[in-house]
Amino acid sequence: MCGIVGYIGTQAATEILLSGLEKLEYRGYDSAGIATIWEGEVNCVRAKGKLYNLRSKLEQVETPAQIGIGHTRWATHGKPEEYNAHPHMDADLRIAVVVNGIIENYSELREELKQKGYQFRSETDVEVIPHLIAEFLKHSPSSAITPGVAPFGSIAFSPSPLLEAVRQAVHKLRGAFAIAIICADYPDELIVVRQQAPIVIGFGQGEFFCASDTPAIISHTRAVLPLDNGELARLTPLGVEVYNSAGERLKKQPRLLNLNPTMVEKQGFKHFMLKEIYEQPGVVRACLDAYFNADWSAGDSTNSPVKLGLPGEIYTDLEQIQIVACGTSWHAAIVGKYLLEQLAGIPTQVHYASEFRYAPTPLTANTLTIGVTQSGETADTLAALAMEKERRQDKDTKYKARLLGITNRPESTLGHMVPHIINTLAGIEIGVAATKTFIAQLMAFYALALDLAYLRQAISQTKLQEIINGLRQIPGEIEATLESQEKSIEQLAHNFAETKDFIFLGRGINYPIALEGALKLKEISYIHAEGYPAGEMKHGPIALLDAKVPVVAIAMPGSVYEKVISNAQEAKARDSRLIGVTPFHHGEAAEIFNDFIPVSKVDELLSPILTVIPLQLLAYHIAALRGLDVDQPRNLAKSVTVE
Ligand code: AGP
Repeated sequence: MCGIVGYIGTQAATEILLSGLEKLEYRGYDSAGIATIWEGEVNCVRAKGKLYNLRSKLEQVETPAQIGIGHTRWATHGKPEEYNAHPHMDADLRIAVVVNGIIENYSELREELKQKGYQFRSETDVEVIPHLIAEFLKHSPSSAITPGVAPFGSIAFSPSPLLEAVRQAVHKLRGAFAIAIICADYPDELIVVRQQAPIVIGFGQGEFFCASDTPAIISHTRAVLPLDNGELARLTPLGVEVYNSAGERLKKQPRLLNLNPTMVEKQGFKHFMLKEIYEQPGVVRACLDAYFNADWSAGDSTNSPVKLGLPGEIYTDLEQIQIVACGTSWHAAIVGKYLLEQLAGIPTQVHYASEFRYAPTPLTANTLTIGVTQSGETADTLAALAMEKERRQDKDTKYKARLLGITNRPESTLGHMVPHIINTLAGIEIGVAATKTFIAQLMAFYALALDLAYLRQAISQTKLQEIINGLRQIPGEIEATLESQEKSIEQLAHNFAETKDFIFLGRGINYPIALEGALKLKEISYIHAEGYPAGEMKHGPIALLDAKVPVVAIAMPGSVYEKVISNAQEAKARDSRLIGVTPFHHGEAAEIFNDFIPVSKVDELLSPILTVIPLQLLAYHIAALRGLDVDQPRNLAKSVTVE
């Protein structure tokens, strides 16, 4: 997955493209490149590694060009080297192309093109595209370039030969992708294509943009039009034309984004991740306001305490829930399973979307399928949901697909794919490691589980009221944890700058938090870390323990507190340094734990929203002390739009 940006207008394009790419670097940062058109030529500059390498190269070759495309890459096909960096160009260096996505049938297209005499300069799947466009342009009847016989039996008919050549080239491609194209022979056109990978068009005053994500263009315009699958757009200095895959012009209007440029700035924090950790109390408040009915109190059996606005068809005769997700969203889903089962009494299964795609569970009746994805663009999650939709299509009502999405980006592909969404209201998250979007996903699950619990009368209204009251205290508790613990967690982190392995233990509803703590540490500090259900450690992982392997144990009051303490004892007996995330620093806990990260005493059911905070901070400070790029860890990208 990569980031694309494009500009056509009256300003110098290079800086606009570079600053757009800066906002998209979270999508990949193996290499970057831009191509502009100036004095009848395409100027293409590419550099391996992060954007600053490209920026310094461009200082020598900057032009006043007013049209251009840019790309930041997360390598899929071909090493992260300059020769594989985008833009890719045709043989005559007239056409430049940037792509986000994968071309599945690139091998056969490459062979076909090689037989026609095309030579390839990269190892990528996407280099076939400029050659295909060149081939179609060459044979286009209305082209400025020599006309000839249509190469693949096609007829050009569009008002723009370039648009038509792109359209025909795209018909040859299989896969999920978004593309932006410029051509020196059509210096007033920027063509954009969407096929299952996100791309938005931005409308300015006499200038137009395209980008994989809105932060790239938000400082120029808030009027955007996300393209739908199969659509192409032709951007000229005069306006934007949108076409369907048959080449027919469509009527489309931009809409105004509710986003402002400061949301995508660090605002004094050293890293986006730290800023986003600190935004979490606000995120929980926003979710409380949006999801819960402020006027509700126990005894009110006419209104639900929850106002998710989901239609009855989602809930009627519901027997089962299955959730598909990846990474951190998968961890939120496991907390969700716990809540849906314990509060609402509905059997719930959680699947890695990437596994579910190829080994789906047998169809069950009256089943709600939930896709959880903060970006709404994760290819595996989308494919799992698409498969579920398709395999239930011809079935009777009991087996029909009921789909729900939980996402932070309702305008994403997921938003178009499923009929109902819970919007997680965390605001744009830039740090590659998810923090505030995780908390917001947890809030969505609390709301869903409590709504179902109320409707099914699975718990008493008094209990319901108690949980909601507890939830309302959470923003303050998170603030207290941030305020009182950040400095001491930073101090504690000094002890682990050289540590090679970490173990995280949790049980019950805090088991997924142990997984999340381990994932955060792995992602940004590159320290090997594993999360385990505390009781499972003795069945094997305990062999890993010695004085060099610290163990973080989440020991919150409730049904499993004593059990976690006993499991922590087992680790202590193997000389591990024990760090307790717990409200208790006396009694047995004081004897076991070498270090404490105190958190408030809250209802066990609510504790995950609190216990994850110190684990995020611990991962952050260890990574920051190691001098690592916290916001853009190696090999990762924010949204994984490839399989
Ligand atoms: C989280 O820190 C990770 N970057 C990653 O595991 C992420 O949660 C996963 O790729 C799923 O992303 P999504 O929520 O956008 O679908």
